[in-house]
Amino acid sequence: MKHVVITGVSRGLGRAMALGFAADGWAVSGCGTDAAALASLAAELGPDHHVQVCNVTDPAAVEDFAAAAVARFGPPDLLANNAAVINPNKPLWEVSAGEFDRVIDVNLKGVHHLIRALLPGMIRRGRGVVVNFSSGWGRSTSPEVAPYCATKWGIEGMTAALAQELPDGLAAVALNPGVIDTRMLRSCFGQAAGGCPSPEEWAKAAVPYLASLEARHNGKALTVPGM
Ligand SMILES: NC(=O)c1ccc[n+]([C@@H]2O[C@H](COP(=O)([O-])OP(=O)(O)OC[C@H]3O[C@@H](n4cnc5c(N)ncnc54)[C@H](OP(=O)(O)O)[C@@H]3O)[C@@H](O)[C@H]2O)c1
Repeated sequence: MKHVVITGVSRGLGRAMALGFAADGWAVSGCGTDAAALASLAAELGPDHHVQVCNVTDPAAVEDFAAAAVARFGPPDLLANNAAVINPNKPLWEVSAGEFDRVIDVNLKGVHHLIRALLPGMIRRGRGVVVNFSSGWGRSTSPEVAPYCATKWGIEGMTAALAQELPDGLAAVALNPGVIDTRMLRSCFGQAAGGCPSPEEWAKAAVPYLASLEARHNGKALTVPGM
């Protein structure tokens, strides 16, 4: 059985991926910080998967989550670094230092914590794919989301450099998921997000696409097809 580790499974794309991969026969390990939402997902997934409260900004909590996931299912075949936050819409000079810190801590440092905790085991086993969630705003920019843009451009650079370090058999890719109606999109687009696909519709295309990624994709900046 293949094993996927997904961060940020309490809602949005992460939750839809968790359910989609489980339906396709994968073992799913997922984390987030919203305990009630995670309990609801765990109940829906059933006992053959691992869901744990874990804040990706806390390296010790990430170590604990990763150790529990690996103990149950072995090193992941796929690590989906999906968890992220966006700053409330405002010009950069009005963003507080604390708001900027939070976006950096979750979107960039959180990804690094997962990579440190899980990639050595994947390398020892000689296979696995790391998918770091980027954005259209990792390849272009818009006003009022500068901190978020900074982190997603950072994801693109960090992933490309990581890809140059990996041994044969492994891959690291940056993935633009598309534009999907989630709480994050509502934060920046408001009601206009309602015209976008739901996470469940997105997952129907995204899960098989993610499952198809392999070593030959190493270093690529990808977009979910059709999104
Ligand atoms: N929706 C889009 O159109 C779109 C477009 C481009 C890129 N993306 C990217 O796609 C990914 C998923 O976005 P989404 O739209 O699904 O966002 P979302 O609905 O806001 O969900 C974000 C998820 O991340 C988790 N998360 C946030 N901070 C966390 C932390 N410190 N530790 C652990 N988990 C944390 C949240 O869980 P808790 O609340 O439980 O912590 C939640 O499950 C993100 O990387 C986003 O940047 C989305």
